[in-house]
Amino acid sequence: MAVGIFDSGLGGLTVLNAAQKRLPDVDFLYFADSAHAPYGVRNAEDIYQLTRTAVHDLWARGCNLVILACNTASAAALRRMQEEGVPEGKRVLGVFVPLIEALTERQWGDNSPPREVEVQHVALFATPATVSSRAFQRELAFRAIGVDVEAQACGGVVDAIEDGDMILAEALVRSHVDALKRKMPAPQAAILGCTHYPLMADTFQQALGPQVTVYSQGDLVAESLADYLTRHANMQGDGESGFLTTGKPGVVSDRATQFLRRQITFAAA
Ligand code: DGL
Repeated sequence: MAVGIFDSGLGGLTVLNAAQKRLPDVDFLYFADSAHAPYGVRNAEDIYQLTRTAVHDLWARGCNLVILACNTASAAALRRMQEEGVPEGKRVLGVFVPLIEALTERQWGDNSPPREVEVQHVALFATPATVSSRAFQRELAFRAIGVDVEAQACGGVVDAIEDGDMILAEALVRSHVDALKRKMPAPQAAILGCTHYPLMADTFQQALGPQVTVYSQGDLVAESLADYLTRHANMQGDGESGFLTTGKPGVVSDRATQFLRRQITFAAA
């Protein structure tokens, strides 16, 4: 019995970690497409094909539900995969909606018309592909009016994290926050719209200042997954749990162990 969690690389571990804490009795099968990371500099067609291949692999391994713990894949592939139709008994869900519901103070599944909300100036930090898709702004517009979103494409951050170069990642985060502040000097909230960025959450918060509320997806996605599984218990599937990568299992295991501060062992996908 395992729920599939997919990311281009290690970022989805921030979602997996939160989901395991919230749902200790649920097993997870994590898939990192490390050989093709980062996705954020690829075009939408490429991201769609890679995501589709990985999700079908997780379904074939017995997962009924796959969470795209990757904003870039959610932005470029989720809607298209859902529109083309998924096999009977299978589902794929993304990570945008729980975040936007939290930002707009909506209950899970509240589909009422868009309304004015407390927060008005929002900084979005995401990969170049997520920013250019405008998927975040589209989902937000379904739920809220009058929110000014300034997006900053954070080139290089995912590569630095995947390479384990946290000094470079930190320097890049600071320079992307500076660039954002030149466009929007006083954001009220900041969205970490890439699942790799919670690994740099302290740097984002320091660079933004204590007055900015920083939203990460881990806990929000874990909470909405818990709610979903209470309503769809059969979606846990019958696959085995574990960690798979299309990259080098030894290298990916070392980095993952360093990030989660517990032994993580990846096998070849
Ligand atoms: N963690 C992915 C996301 O949430 C990273 C994308 C990448 O591979 O560039 O967008």
